[in-house]
Amino acid sequence: MKWPTHGSNPQFLYEALHLQMPESVIDFSANINPLGPPTIVKDRWNELLPLVSDYPDPTAERLTGLLAKKEGVRNEQILVGNGGAELISLVGRLLTGKKVLIVQPAFSEYEEACRVNQCEVRYHLMDVESWELRLNELLVNLREVDAVFLCNPNNPTGMFFPKQTIELLARECAKYETFLIVDEAFYDFIEGYESTVSCLQHGGNMIILRSMTKMFSIPGIRLGYLIANEALLAKIRLSKPHWSVNAIAMKVGEWCLSESDYVEQTIQLINQEREKLQSFYREQEFSYSPSTVNFYLLKDTKVSDQFPFFRFLMEKGMIPRHTMNFPGLDGKWLRLAVKGPTEHERLLEVMSEWRKVDS
Ligand SMILES: Cc1ncc(COP(=O)(O)O)c(C=O)c1O
Repeated sequence: MKWPTHGSNPQFLYEALHLQMPESVIDFSANINPLGPPTIVKDRWNELLPLVSDYPDPTAERLTGLLAKKEGVRNEQILVGNGGAELISLVGRLLTGKKVLIVQPAFSEYEEACRVNQCEVRYHLMDVESWELRLNELLVNLREVDAVFLCNPNNPTGMFFPKQTIELLARECAKYETFLIVDEAFYDFIEGYESTVSCLQHGGNMIILRSMTKMFSIPGIRLGYLIANEALLAKIRLSKPHWSVNAIAMKVGEWCLSESDYVEQTIQLINQEREKLQSFYREQEFSYSPSTVNFYLLKDTKVSDQFPFFRFLMEKGMIPRHTMNFPGLDGKWLRLAVKGPTEHERLLEVMSEWRKVDS
């Protein structure tokens, strides 16, 4: 069977499983803010229409300036991209032919981007039973490669490694002239997040990736940015298609940057809902990853094969993300997004039904 490589677009998953897609489904396979885009986007939507008849600003000057101010860096240290995904492929191009270490399990696009650019790809596996990064081994392994990818907060586990860990990796990578790519696509779901931008000052080749599509619920229009030192960023920019970021995305991005209350409200909702789910899972003897963001891994500890559980959820229209293509997980867990109370009411009903079937 050919498993889809990403969450979202659930019709492909139903097709692959030869299952009829129920009329009503809830998609837990994509980690998008359940509140939808901020109100400002809906209220000012009409202002976007005139933008479609002109070419977008290829330098995204206004949005870049706003992001630079927010991050406390120079404009030349920000590169706006067509989602984090475009920036990952530009980084892959930068690393052409190099030896790359990916801390796994992680977002599959790092490996894709590296492989198409003839990189030699190695894995550093986290311990997903004890949920340990195995930092000491990582510090040794990074000496033998040209680049390290770390997804933080980690997709798919939802775990977050503190700034001290990133600081340590940045120093060590700088020592060995190893590129350090920290993908912070979900950083804004972390309560009390402490910026890692200051780690760039250790010199070396650190790159921070950010996405705006998750928190602001705009995956359909694509927006992300990269932060790095000026010389490195200038090199990455050379491979970027001229107008890859569209004018709607830029304008929406500018609006979203002023939405700090919405971000705060989202964090509160997600924390509250995640704790509610975890309490149910503990009572019902499901195992879950120690997530601090808007998705988590789940496993039914009463069964060794998770596939029947996965299939049951799909049949009931509760769509998890399979983990077949995450090294270190290999289908032994399911990943689910944290959504709102209505979606969870239905999800927990279905989970309770499964408990009855399975016991
Ligand atoms: C860890 C991580 N990084 C980057 C991306 C790409 O995000 P986007 O291209 O929507 O900004 C994703 C998407 O799921 C992701 O999970």
